[in-house]
Amino acid sequence: MSTSIARACANIALVKYWGKRDARLNLPAAGSLSLTLDALVTTTQVTFDAGLAGDELVLDGAPATPGELARTSAFLDLVRAAARMTARARVVSRNEFPTASGLASSASGYAALAVAAVAAAGATLSARQLSILARRGSGSAARSVFGGFVRMHAGAPARNSEDGLDDDSRAFAEPLASPLTERVRMVIAVIGGGAPKAHGSRDAMDHTAATSPLYRAWLDLVPHDLAAAEVALAAGDLEQLGAIAEANAFAMHASALAARPAVVYWQPATLAALAAVRALRAAGTPAWATMDAGPHVKVLTTAGHAGAVAAALRAVAGVTDVSIAAAGGPAAVVHEGRLS
Ligand code: PMV
Repeated sequence: MSTSIARACANIALVKYWGKRDARLNLPAAGSLSLTLDALVTTTQVTFDAGLAGDELVLDGAPATPGELARTSAFLDLVRAAARMTARARVVSRNEFPTASGLASSASGYAALAVAAVAAAGATLSARQLSILARRGSGSAARSVFGGFVRMHAGAPARNSEDGLDDDSRAFAEPLASPLTERVRMVIAVIGGGAPKAHGSRDAMDHTAATSPLYRAWLDLVPHDLAAAEVALAAGDLEQLGAIAEANAFAMHASALAARPAVVYWQPATLAALAAVRALRAAGTPAWATMDAGPHVKVLTTAGHAGAVAAALRAVAGVTDVSIAAAGGPAAVVHEGRLS
């Protein structure tokens, strides 16, 4: 029997991942860029035990659904294949999030699972290999292997490429150094009490790619936003980064809204929170909004303004919880404690 525990922080994309080019390998159709957040943490313990008849999964203290277990088991099969082992595993995972659900738990979840499972299997992988592995669980998880600002490469094979890499090993994330890393905060406004989302990101992005007349335009936009965001990060230009992030989130949602039938994540309180962010900005506060596959609004701002932004969001009817996150660190093995 061998046990390892790992901890990973979720991340919020500033340039979104929305669409795959390969469902089996979970290869993204475009790159993305995110900020790993210290307030959204998953801790996962993996125990490989030759005596187990099948994999087991306990999520936040309760046995997982058959669907969740099947997805985790398929992911563990990748680790077993890499480590040439057959033992089944018991996985115990706990999210320390502002509220129960509706935030980016698949990112921290699969990053923590990848790190814990590889360590428990006695294998050693580089951070890049861990990112590639985590991507197989969830596209955004590839970014949660790293701390701070992170760039995910789509990894589309270059024609006549001579680097010897296959498609799978080109789609990885890596950290981006920026003078903004210490300065930024993300204020997370939970809307609707964190109820489970109506459309999972996996199905909704496939549906957008298959039916939205705006999907092509979305894919054409992403490389431009990525390039501009990288320039802003390198220059420490928060105004520029925030403007790109907000516009990119609206473009992602526009592509989803134009799918047939539409994928609509927003609730009335989402629009009210977005209006509050525009009002803050009009009054001179640096604040830019982003939204993912759910109704919640996350606001990029500075450490100095985060308190005022949080207060403004708390005053919005329908906002049920507000928390402030700073840049989080990379996923890592934890050497103390046990989850079960
Ligand atoms: O990695 P997934 O399947 O959870 O998809 C993430 C999708 C978004 O959160 C909407 C965007 C992103 O880049 O994180």
